Amino acid sequence: MKPKVLIARRIFPDVVARLREHFEVEWYDENEPLTPAQLQRRLADKHGLFASGTEQITAELLDACPELKAVCLMTVGYNNVDVAACTALGVLLTNAPDVLTETTADFGFALMMAAARRISESEHFLRRGDWTQWRVDLFAGADIHGSTLGILGMGRIGQAIARRGALGFGMQVIYHNRSRLSPEQEAPLGAQWVSKQELLSRADHLVIVVPYTPESHHLIQAQDLALMKRSATLTNIARGGVVDEDALAQALGEGRLAAAGLDVFEGEPTVNPRLLALNNVVLTPHIASASVPTRRAMCNLAADNLIAALTGGQVLTAVNGRELAA
Ligand code: DGY
Repeated sequence: MKPKVLIARRIFPDVVARLREHFEVEWYDENEPLTPAQLQRRLADKHGLFASGTEQITAELLDACPELKAVCLMTVGYNNVDVAACTALGVLLTNAPDVLTETTADFGFALMMAAARRISESEHFLRRGDWTQWRVDLFAGADIHGSTLGILGMGRIGQAIARRGALGFGMQVIYHNRSRLSPEQEAPLGAQWVSKQELLSRADHLVIVVPYTPESHHLIQAQDLALMKRSATLTNIARGGVVDEDALAQALGEGRLAAAGLDVFEGEPTVNPRLLALNNVVLTPHIASASVPTRRAMCNLAADNLIAALTGGQVLTAVNGRELAA
């Protein structure tokens, strides 16, 4: 008998077809997320789960699914999963790093540029019919080239953004991360490790790319924003909960920060109304990795992992593989 798997959301049909070659597949072919109760009911007799970053994989859910052997995410972030509970119950967790790095970095850079050069704000102005004359200071923003790029979180995506800034736009790259890059990694980018305080006070453009964990919850609060230059921008492509959104809205509203670009939100898909009310923030619906080729690659990597996990193959990107093997 084939192992049973649940695909918990709408994905590319050819990826589903690949999984059907190996498994008895239940496909929830909807964009509306399953409620926790629906997910638990559908997963109760399954050996594997194909999921994203939106399904909550809790200890309670895992306890109710005794057959479950593998949870394979198509996202790199796995803050929606209780990793310790997976490990304790012998459930393998995989995510989808690498395949989205360059696409996500492209988008982070675009969002930063849109905030700095006031692209959304000026487009809305034009569409409203408010453009009556050319002016010297019309939507004059901040330069990107030659400015200081501050990166909070220097993993794969942070480094890909640093490459764009240093090599493409002549930016000076400073970063803060728990661990420093090696001198060989820093040198080609001219990247300099600095304290979080120095990062905030020196950056002309701050890009946040840290993983969301209990330690990074509200890593950026009012006192951190107060260290930033009034002319600076803040771009968040990590998770909404890394930034205190009320404090950010306050700083943007009072002109203590020039602009922000946000792709992620603490209560998404609900967006803080204080942010919605501001002109100087570019808001996008969590789409940094959403190019068609990349979303396909993310789905295929999750499928490869699920096939390997349930058929005795070599899993490519395990989150808790080492702990399970121990
Ligand atoms: C990820 O892969 O974690 C992206 O944020 C998409 O959810």
